[in-house]
Amino acid sequence: MKAKGSILVVDDEEIVRDSLARWLEEDGYQVDTAPDGQAALAKLAAQAYAILLVDLKMPGIDGLQVLAQARTLQPDAAIIIMTAYATVDTAVQAMKQGAYDYLVKPFEPEELSLMVGKLTNTQALRRENVLLRKALKRQCEFKDLVSKSPKMEAVFELARTAAKSNSTVLILGGSGTGKELLARAIHAESLRREGPFVGVSCAALTESLLESELFGHEKGAFTGAVGSARGKFEIAAGGTLFLDEIGDISPKLQLDLLRVLDAREFRRVGGSQVIKTDARIIAATNRDLKKLVDSGSFREDLYYRLNVIPVTLPPLRERKEDIPLLAEHFLAQFRTEMRKPLESLSGEALEMLMAYDWPGNVRELRNVLERGAVLARGPILTPLGLELGPPTLPPGAPTDTPDSLREVERRHIEVTLKQHNWNITRAAKALGIDRVTLYNKIKRYQIREDE
Ligand SMILES: Nc1ncnc2c1ncn2[C@@H]1O[C@H](COP(=O)(O)OP(=O)(O)O)[C@@H](O)[C@H]1O
Ligand SMILES: [Mg+2]
Repeated sequence: MKAKGSILVVDDEEIVRDSLARWLEEDGYQVDTAPDGQAALAKLAAQAYAILLVDLKMPGIDGLQVLAQARTLQPDAAIIIMTAYATVDTAVQAMKQGAYDYLVKPFEPEELSLMVGKLTNTQALRRENVLLRKALKRQCEFKDLVSKSPKMEAVFELARTAAKSNSTVLILGGSGTGKELLARAIHAESLRREGPFVGVSCAALTESLLESELFGHEKGAFTGAVGSARGKFEIAAGGTLFLDEIGDISPKLQLDLLRVLDAREFRRVGGSQVIKTDARIIAATNRDLKKLVDSGSFREDLYYRLNVIPVTLPPLRERKEDIPLLAEHFLAQFRTEMRKPLESLSGEALEMLMAYDWPGNVRELRNVLERGAVLARGPILTPLGLELGPPTLPPGAPTDTPDSLREVERRHIEVTLKQHNWNITRAAKALGIDRVTLYNKIKRYQIREDE
């Protein structure tokens, strides 16, 4: 079927057939004709049509019979019956049998154009709806996480399996990709769901504070320790301990943690009693842990202890098909929370969101929409109400740095490169940056050797 759909005109009068065909062809439709019911049924068996325009009164197989056959041969085709004034009653009967509408002969070309045009639009809309429903159906869920990206579906699958075990899970992914939400979901799907979910942000605290936060302390363990306190390892007994931003912990704590994970027991700070722990560990980081291991800032043995089931959340820019779905999801949340009649995003607004590359991932999307929802005056969010971060630049494009500063950097790089005969390694060393960074800057500033 072509974009505008093809139409089959069935009429025993040649002049009617030909003029109808001409009118419709002028409107841009593809038209086929049949001189009687028999020929019409043969065509219906051979080719798909969007619309059938059928004369009611024909010798042999009449319009009603064609209609009945067409319902089974091509249930998606819409049928318009043509009838003389005298047989309008039969036309009404045809409607009852599933015809879309009828035209009383003689009719004006405009009347036909209008009806067929409207019908074509309806059909296009219905096709779109079917696609939309199909698209929405393809969405997958894991507790509060929604997605329709195959990459995420694989993540959910893995997380579901992990949830059933007691093994340590390491969640990797950029900030705002949903690591904490996923950790909570794994806990909620696990056998420990009745137990506590205890989260610790390892980057937020100093080494000694984090230590007593994790392991607890006894009275007088340090200045200010007026009483004893349980640590998160104790509090998480029977549940899950979520160690967020694990890539940021100090070497000393890395060692402490390794020991706890190995022996499944620990002591409070300043305490001597050995305490057992059965907490299930889920760790997360937005850093490249493997790289930290390679560069020596993260213990390899601890890395392997944590990396039992690694789960990586892809950045939002690698699953842009999630943007409309997440936007819908968050708008529904805000609709309830804010008691505002928020309905959807305008097409332009959605386009804008799709074009952006979301360095802050899902969290940033949520924030942008939340602000938009607060400011929204009506049910539709437009680009005007949505404020994105600095526009994303194609790789190699100049950054936001003020012109003069950029110029200075560019010239300095040029000079340094010349001094070192374009030896990238030496030039990078002289500039105090690594080679990749230098390459990127050369590309960004479009510096060439002959300059
Ligand atoms: N797949 C998702 N479906 C629904 N909400 C999500 C999804 N991923 C992230 N979010 C939401 O985005 C925000 C950031 O998620 P979070 O888990 O805190 O990210 P991270 O820990 O990786 O920085 C939260 O408000 C969270 O509820
Ligand atoms: Mg987080």
